[in-house]
Amino acid sequence: MPEVTNLADKIEKQLPNELVGFLKQAGEVTAGRGEAVYLVGGVVRDLLLDKTNIDIDLAVEGDAIAFARELIRDRDGKITIHRQFNTAKIVWHEWSVDLATSRRESYSRPGVLPTVKPSSLDDDLFRRDFTINAMAIDLNPHSYGRLIDPYSGQKDIKQGLLRVLHEKSFIDDSTRIWRGLRYEQRLDFRLEADTLILLQRDISMLDSISGDRIRYELECILDEELPEKVLQRAGKLGALERLNPALEDDGWLADKYNNARQMSLPHKPPPDLYMALLAYNLTDKEREQFISYLRLPKPAARTLRDSGGIRAKLTELAAAAIKPSRIYHLLHGYSPQAITSNIIASDSPIACRNIKLYSDKLQHIKPLLNGNDLIKMGIPPGPRIKEILNKLLDARLDGEVKTRQDEEEMVGELSA
Ligand code: CTP
Repeated sequence: MPEVTNLADKIEKQLPNELVGFLKQAGEVTAGRGEAVYLVGGVVRDLLLDKTNIDIDLAVEGDAIAFARELIRDRDGKITIHRQFNTAKIVWHEWSVDLATSRRESYSRPGVLPTVKPSSLDDDLFRRDFTINAMAIDLNPHSYGRLIDPYSGQKDIKQGLLRVLHEKSFIDDSTRIWRGLRYEQRLDFRLEADTLILLQRDISMLDSISGDRIRYELECILDEELPEKVLQRAGKLGALERLNPALEDDGWLADKYNNARQMSLPHKPPPDLYMALLAYNLTDKEREQFISYLRLPKPAARTLRDSGGIRAKLTELAAAAIKPSRIYHLLHGYSPQAITSNIIASDSPIACRNIKLYSDKLQHIKPLLNGNDLIKMGIPPGPRIKEILNKLLDARLDGEVKTRQDEEEMVGELSA
């Protein structure tokens, strides 16, 4: 593949017309303002890789907020401004573009968010994670499409390499460790030899990052096509155990994630299902550590706890002669993803069959009679109604009553 120096044709071919028109207009507006604007970040990388990406990030050598305001003026859209970061997001129709004043970053200590100062595009590229993400495309009219590639990102793309820009990169921001593993597996790249050494050297720096930021990285991983590949690699390089010391990847997860994908077709598995499988073999105590370290939101935390709750009942669920009503009561009230995680992860085919029976059939069963019917039949309102309905439900689950008449006879016997 010959070296590319101008990407105007690629922009034209790979981006939707509306965005191409927008980028050209952005260049013209910025020239009129005496400023400069560049396409930066993942979209530049993906243009060179011929991959679709419409997440447009612009770096402005100038006032990004005023510029964004000017661009949204003749569009029917919305603008969101973050004055403290000098950034703006504009959204119109189905498009969304992030704009930021180009900046320099400095880290007061590892793991904290950086202090930022407006600066040149050069500094803006230097603050980035990997060479393949540290390129820009000039949008200014006289040099539209010119590739700016100070760290030979294009060469690394050709060789399939992930290379940091300087040796303190993972110390400054160790979320880059997880980002590196994610890109490596997604793009089928390799960490360049020195970068790999630095990553392993700095792996303990992951502990300097807040749980919220690590959770975000994990969510990004679980959104990948094959998250298990990233987690497996993280297991080998010692990053997985930083999420929880008890986590290890011995190939078990790959198999389960594959099943999760099959079961979720035609959709992607929900992230909480992947998360529950990741945490499946943790003890109650380890699971709680995992939940609080990552500050998992309530629904995800519930799925993980429920998944563990069901796992603790698997021996009983694996009994061949278990009654359907018992299965129902063992599983009733647990979140659907927790139930699915146990269908996928349980070693017992019988338990698995019983959980499926609950999920496909038993959970939807109800008695034909309701409270009003019982009152009409002469049962006085009160707790007895609930007791009888529960007995009717059990009898229906176990196939002891089939018709409305069966149920009425049962009520007659129970109230006699
Ligand atoms: N970036 C960085 N270090 C980080 C996060 C982001 O240097 N810890 C830079 C990279 O240049 C990256 C850009 O900010 O390309 C945008 O970040 P993000 O949207 O997270 O990444 P993308 O490259 O767009 O990756 P993806 O395709 O996964 O969205």
